[in-house]
Amino acid sequence: MKLNIEPSIMYFGTPVVLISTLNEDGTTNIAPISSIWWLGWSCMIGLDSTSKSTENLKKNGQCVLNLASGDLANKVNNLALLTGSKEIPIHKRLLGYKYSKDKFTDSGFTPNKRDSESINCVNECKIQLTAIVKNISEFAKNDARMAIPAYAIELQITQVNASPEILLNDNKNKIDPNKWNPLIMNFRKLYSLSSELNESRLAIKSEDLYAPWKKKGIVRFLTNKVLKLSNKKYGH
Ligand SMILES: Cc1cc2nc3c(=O)[nH]c(=O)nc-3n(C[C@H](O)[C@H](O)[C@H](O)COP(=O)(O)O)c2cc1C
Repeated sequence: MKLNIEPSIMYFGTPVVLISTLNEDGTTNIAPISSIWWLGWSCMIGLDSTSKSTENLKKNGQCVLNLASGDLANKVNNLALLTGSKEIPIHKRLLGYKYSKDKFTDSGFTPNKRDSESINCVNECKIQLTAIVKNISEFAKNDARMAIPAYAIELQITQVNASPEILLNDNKNKIDPNKWNPLIMNFRKLYSLSSELNESRLAIKSEDLYAPWKKKGIVRFLTNKVLKLSNKKYGH
């Protein structure tokens, strides 16, 4: 039997990401988020419309997603209840949020600027995804249970950087899941993953099947043709 329940929040367990965005004075704001999911080289994030991160994304359309690992839980906690917005909306004031001009200093995370890029990454994060904004839309606007104004933001990832220590020994284009331990927010509590339970049947065939764009020459040409025809049937 399952009970019909009304949880106040639905945080069923998602990875924690520190989003780096560019402030108007050229400094970098960082903020923890966990409303995020990926498909291909794109992802969707859910952001409070009042956040500094949202303001920055709307202004300059670029960010770095720094993926936090389990060992960073304490530092991520230092970032909680901080906002880069001077004007703090009432729902954040009620939760005890404070303004922070420099969240790197206040949290203990280390800024790291890659060449030719203006946004600072979070050095402690072993995976850093550079991304651009593709679409911003209002989220759950007419749902009375949505307590805050929010946006669903589509990002396209343009570059993936990863620490060599979490890569597969024999394929540097792949993250080794045995070496990567994401920090997970599970109902406002921070968790890391335990050990692998099972081989997934999803992984029986090669991961390369997810990336036909990596094929070369005639194989790439033919694969694209076949996929295009197939996608057409679904209105794409
Ligand atoms: C672990 C964790 C996960 C969070 N997830 C989200 C989220 O998915 N979306 C969101 O808008 N805020 C989320 N927050 C709250 C933001 O960090 C908060 O809105 C913060 O003020 C954003 O900073 P900013 O105003 O400087 O952009 C989360 C906070 C923590 C600590």
